[in-house]
Amino acid sequence: MTNPSLLILPGDGIGPEVMAEVRRVIDWFGDKRGLTIDVSEDLVGGAAYDAHGVPLTDETMEKAQSVDAVLLGAVGGPKYDDLDFSVKPERGLLRLRKEMDLFANLRPAQCFDALADFSSLKKDVVAGLDIMIVRELTSGIYFGEPRGIFTEGNERVGINTQRYTESEIDRVARNAFELAMKRSKKLCSMEKANVMESGILWREVVTKVGEDYPEVELSHMYADAGAMQLCRWPKQFDVIVTDNLFGDLLSDAAAMLTGSLGMLPSASLGAPMANGRPKAMYEPVHGSAPDIAGQGKANPIACVLSFAMALRYSFDQGAEADRLEAAIEQVLADGVRTADLLGEEGVTPVTTSEMGSAILAALD
Ligand code: NAI
Ligand code: MG
Repeated sequence: MTNPSLLILPGDGIGPEVMAEVRRVIDWFGDKRGLTIDVSEDLVGGAAYDAHGVPLTDETMEKAQSVDAVLLGAVGGPKYDDLDFSVKPERGLLRLRKEMDLFANLRPAQCFDALADFSSLKKDVVAGLDIMIVRELTSGIYFGEPRGIFTEGNERVGINTQRYTESEIDRVARNAFELAMKRSKKLCSMEKANVMESGILWREVVTKVGEDYPEVELSHMYADAGAMQLCRWPKQFDVIVTDNLFGDLLSDAAAMLTGSLGMLPSASLGAPMANGRPKAMYEPVHGSAPDIAGQGKANPIACVLSFAMALRYSFDQGAEADRLEAAIEQVLADGVRTADLLGEEGVTPVTTSEMGSAILAALD
């Protein structure tokens, strides 16, 4: 059996700082659990622009296509704000998503008990929350044609088109049903079939795919009602599947139920490769955080949890992913806090690498 392969792209700002802690975690799994991962590292975003004049080289793109998984830190920063659109750091990220055809974006919203006080909602509403939003990522209104600003008579009109083919809905729905099978076998699909034809088709196709997953309890909800229910009693959900636009909003809202941006991982999955596992890129939800970059203040947990998702979804190491998540739960229960997690009085924040060390100690 060959080792699983991982391409690490630390990127800009706090990207390299949080990634350094992930590398220590990867080494721990190699040393202590005999889980050897073939890790390679390359540049993306502003870092790649500085070295090569482009935010992602063709060579890096080829590497990304050939590994089992990509783990990306963050891209961008004020230094690159005035660059031409075509070479902006974000273009590197978008190229990866597009060329790897990562159509399913998995955004967990998980509330660690020790941080339940952090939520803007009541503690009992969020404590123990563990839901997964699957957002369609490569189609819908952000890509549909026609689009643009046109002139009609004596005024301008801005146009975007919501467009979904049956196969686009089918593949993301299948992805969500597969996830539901591995979790609590509950899936809620959200659209606005009451006012949108694309929503009517969405509901029809998801229902049809559901016939292949009789064990999964499928429900449908209008996305606006879904938003209300997410704030009212989020624990009624397990897996939610929705389109690109609604998923953008719902996943951001759900994520904030649980506290800090420094805690949120994500996965973007594509079609199965020859080995049966999906093409995959994992990344924290946060950006390059230029306001704290270089100060050792960044919380590495979002990036470490993204690696845990890679263990689970790309390397078939669900038990090891559980182990890593339990270590993080332990560290938080022990009161270890980076600056972004401070709420209680009198707690001194730890640095990025101290948080990494605490995670390793908990793993031991
Ligand atoms: P941001 O996520 O970088 O930062 C927002 C706020 O959250 C800042 O106050 C930051 O200090 C804090 N924060 C974020 N991650 C943290 C962590 N791990 N630990 C502690 N605090 C953390 O978003 P912002 O400021 O809007 O964007 C900054 C740059 O990042 C921009 O150039 C933007 O384009 C880029 N960006 C990149 C993304 C990516 O690579 N996927 C996503 C979002 C923004
Ligand atoms: Mg968003």
